[in-house]
Amino acid sequence: MQRPVLAVAVDFGTTFSGISYMPVGPNEQYTQLDNWPGATGKLYKVPTTISYRYDEANRTYVPDAFGFAAESAPPILRCSMFKMFLDVAVGAGDRQSVLINPESVRRPTWENLEKTVDDVIRDYLQLLYHHMKLTFMDEGLRSEDLEYNILFTVPAQFEVLEVEKFRSLVKSTGFGAHVISVSLREPEAAILYTLNHGIRSLMPVGQCIVLCDAGGGTVDIASYKVTAHNPATKIEQINVVTGRPCGSMNIDLAFKRFLFEECLDQKWRCYFQTSDGMIHLQRMCKVFSDRKEAFDNSPSTPNITIQVSPPSLSGNNIAAGYLRISRLKMCDLFKESVSGTLECLKEHVDRCLQEGFSIKSIFLVGGLGSSKYLHQRVKQYCASLPGETEVIKPRDAEFAVIRGAIESHQKNLLGADDPIALRLCPMSYGIRVSELWDPIKHDDRLDDHFWNPRTKQKMARNQIKWLIRKVVLEIIRDFYSKLFMSIRIYST
Ligand SMILES: Nc1ncnc2c1ncn2[C@@H]1O[C@H](COP(=O)(O)OP(=O)(O)OP(=O)(O)O)[C@@H](O)[C@H]1O
Ligand SMILES: [Mg+2]
Repeated sequence: MQRPVLAVAVDFGTTFSGISYMPVGPNEQYTQLDNWPGATGKLYKVPTTISYRYDEANRTYVPDAFGFAAESAPPILRCSMFKMFLDVAVGAGDRQSVLINPESVRRPTWENLEKTVDDVIRDYLQLLYHHMKLTFMDEGLRSEDLEYNILFTVPAQFEVLEVEKFRSLVKSTGFGAHVISVSLREPEAAILYTLNHGIRSLMPVGQCIVLCDAGGGTVDIASYKVTAHNPATKIEQINVVTGRPCGSMNIDLAFKRFLFEECLDQKWRCYFQTSDGMIHLQRMCKVFSDRKEAFDNSPSTPNITIQVSPPSLSGNNIAAGYLRISRLKMCDLFKESVSGTLECLKEHVDRCLQEGFSIKSIFLVGGLGSSKYLHQRVKQYCASLPGETEVIKPRDAEFAVIRGAIESHQKNLLGADDPIALRLCPMSYGIRVSELWDPIKHDDRLDDHFWNPRTKQKMARNQIKWLIRKVVLEIIRDFYSKLFMSIRIYST
């Protein structure tokens, strides 16, 4: 007899991860894991952080804790932000920390622990799996009685090779003992959540809706045309999903830059490179992160304050144990994330308008998507658009990916139709549109290039344009050589 199926969805995020699950069957409700080790209270997301300890016997670092429980480990034994290094185009030797001062001086923690980024991802997923399995057992959902069918979401920007690499990492952990699929793109999961929970008048048939999934690492934008509501909502993708690495962690990095470059007295700068100093720095960053999440640019709060750590900290904007950040400065710290999001959004909106669509709604989801300040800025931008565009922050916007993923996974397993009736192929299998700049292959005078802000590496761009240019040149050359040939034949 076949075992009943337990649908599970895993969102492995840059800064936070989540797991949701539900038995497959009619009228079942989903649940999210909320019992994370080290957390004070129920929380639906867990930091994508892992800590290691030294195993004397085997003379190696072994995984110790993950998520909240890892946050109290000394910074030199703790790794985070590793998801964004899962990049097949970047070689092991090139994997340098993308973090700006003071971290740029240091190598990524995992290199000091003699781990590769793949090791760290595998170890993190293994701890996540172990915790999930124990929880399921406690809840009477044993794998002996139920078949776990586990869906992993993947970032919109992952190329086929990256997805494959991620799949093989997942397979090498305990998750690999179950039925797994590594397929649903994060913005797709989020739009499915929005469709299931949105108000239909905000997505009228024939009009366009735009989804902006702004998370910790990246901001992804997707646009869809609504084609039907009856008997079920159907949408068609209008543009290829675009994204930028301008997520909320850029605000945290801007805060650190501000602290180091504009605030701290010289003597403290070195102190924060020490292990004691790093603990104090982490404490201040945590408080800043809370302030960032609450920031609404309200004139009634001209300054925000952060209790400094250690209390004797001195420098500009610091007085009586508090660091003061003006409202204007806060807007400045948000700048990279907000302008990156707006630029990316504008590109999409412009293309939808060019194709003759009117944009009824823009849905903001993800952690940064739930920011009141970002909401204001997107609303300001939309005021300049033709027609009336609503900017909606759906309820529980930060859980849109994980909730959309479990809902669509459940529906798929029950054999329901896919609400996304038309998908655009996100990439060509043949030609990379950007790759690492190779001074032997590429030429500064002829070839386009850009700096990847995520990896801080020079990238060659627009190979397709080069290809077209090359083909056109060949055609012109061919034309002239034939012309000269015929002139020569004529004249002889
Ligand atoms: N109101 C807010 N304003 C700004 N940032 C916020 C807010 N709420 C949460 N965040 C930030 O959002 C991030 C978490 O969001 P989310 O879980 O969507 O990201 P993620 O899935 O880890 O990243 P990604 O989707 O890029 O992989 C954290 O960096 C958190 O500090
Ligand atoms: Mg995410």
